[in-house]
Formats: sequence, structure tokens, C-alpha cells
Amino acid sequence: MSFKGKIVAVTGAAGGIGQSVCRYFAGEGAAIAAIDKNASVKSFASELKHEGMKIAYAVADVGDAEAVKKAVAHLAAELGPVDILINNAGFSDHPTLMQTDPKGWQADMNGNLNGAYNCAYAVLPSMQQRRSGSIIAVGSVNGLSALGDPAYSAAKAGMISLTKSLALEYGRYGIRSNIVLPATVRTPLWASRTAKRLPRFRCGGRGDGRGTPGRLRADGRQYRHGA
Ligand SMILES: NC(=O)c1ccc[n+]([C@@H]2O[C@H](COP(=O)([O-])OP(=O)(O)OC[C@H]3O[C@@H](n4cnc5c(N)ncnc54)[C@H](O)[C@@H]3O)[C@@H](O)[C@H]2O)c1
Repeated sequence: MSFKGKIVAVTGAAGGIGQSVCRYFAGEGAAIAAIDKNASVKSFASELKHEGMKIAYAVADVGDAEAVKKAVAHLAAELGPVDILINNAGFSDHPTLMQTDPKGWQADMNGNLNGAYNCAYAVLPSMQQRRSGSIIAVGSVNGLSALGDPAYSAAKAGMISLTKSLALEYGRYGIRSNIVLPATVRTPLWASRTAKRLPRFRCGGRGDGRGTPGRLRADGRQYRHGA
């Protein structure tokens, strides 16, 4: 599957799944527009550049719509307009409802759900103009079931709905919208928690699903939309 000439924006690019997804698309010839709130995205971008891959980065919190707008404009000026957006940034800080105070609820909703909306909002006008594009959300099985982390789960459920709304409104412009719902993947997000909570369970490695966004985007899969 080649993504030569495509510009792929990946949010949460400095994290476990984000790094794997960036490497996957860059390895298939894409130029990567890496976005993360953590400044370590800079050293990750240098690492990939050093390996001969094409990548530019921006440090931005996806929950901040203005910061996202600036980051997307900066990356588009450097690489070109975004063809594929992977809404991967996410986190979970509050394991139970009682530990989730109203401020925590808002923070989890903002970083997970609003962030996905902000990024889609920033790239859609150019995609619509070009009548082409793909937006892929990294949701979670938490979005389908109650597995703890209620604010995170509600945000991930919201991402499923957002994915379907994007598909409904933008399919006519040749823009596809899909979501992947990973189960547990051993990344920095989970490393300490799996040791405590899932002692006998084999969770996925961070590379296990990295090709999934690519398969959803593949030109042979044009029929897959809103899924
Ligand atoms: N690891 C799992 O078990 C698992 C399971 C299902 C879904 N997911 C989802 O996969 C995605 C990636 O998770 P991961 O396991 O790689 O976690 P991770 O903690 O390794 O990486 C997440 C990255 O996102 C960045 N980030 C978080 N909030 C941000 C924000 N508001 N703005 C910009 N960057 C932000 C972090 O700085 C980090 O680099 C998340 O959306 C997560 O919910 C993970």
C-alpha cells in the first residue's frame, strides 16, 4: 500500500500508537505532519528525519481550537495541505466517576472529543475544496462499553458519533470518515496500569494495529465510510 505524495497529519504523534502510525505511513512514502502537546514530538521528528523520512511537527494541545488552527496552517505551509488526518491524541486521567470532578470531566472531554472535532474543523475546508480526504479517529473499546474511566469512555463514544456525522456531511465531497476501536495496547498510557490490573492478559503491542488506519484509507476501500 503506497501513500507516496500524501500528507498525513497524526495527532498524539509522540505517544506509543502515534509513533507507530507515523512510522507506518512514512514508511509507505507519506509526509508526516506530527502534532502533539508534548515537546518530545520535536525529538521524534528529528529521529524520523534522520532515518530519511519526511516529517514536520507542531507542538499544540488539540483541545485548543486556535492552537490547532495555527499548527495546521504552519504544517500545510511546510508540507502541503493535509490529505489524511489521524485523530489519535487522547488520554485518560480519571478511573472512576468519584475521582472525576467536573474540571476533570471537562478536561477529558476537551482533550479527547473536542480535540478530534477541532482538528477535523481545521482540515475540512481544504479537503472539501479538493474534494478528497480521509479522517480516521482512534477511538477505543471504552466507547462501546463501560470499562472504567467514565469521562474518557463518554468522549470515545462521542467520537463514534462524530465519525458518523462527518461521514454523513462530507461523504458527498469525497471525504471519508472512519474510526478504529483498539482494545488494550501496551504503550506508555497503559504500561503501568496493565501491570496492576491485567496480570494474565496479553495486551497488544504498539505495532499490532498500526496498519489499520492505512487499510481504512486505502483507495481500494472507498466503500468503507462512516464505519
Ligand atoms: N493504549 C491503549 O491501550 C489504547 C486502547 C484504546 C485506545 N487507545 C487510544 O489510542 C490513542 C493513543 O494512545 P497511546 O496508547 O499511544 O497513548 P500515549 O499516552 O502513549 O500517547 C498519547 C499521545 O497523545 C498526546 N496527547 C494527549 N492529549 C493531547 C492533546 N490534548 N493534544 C495533543 N496531544 C495530546 C500525548 O502527549 C501523547 O504523546 C489515544 O487516543 C487512546 O485513547 C489506546
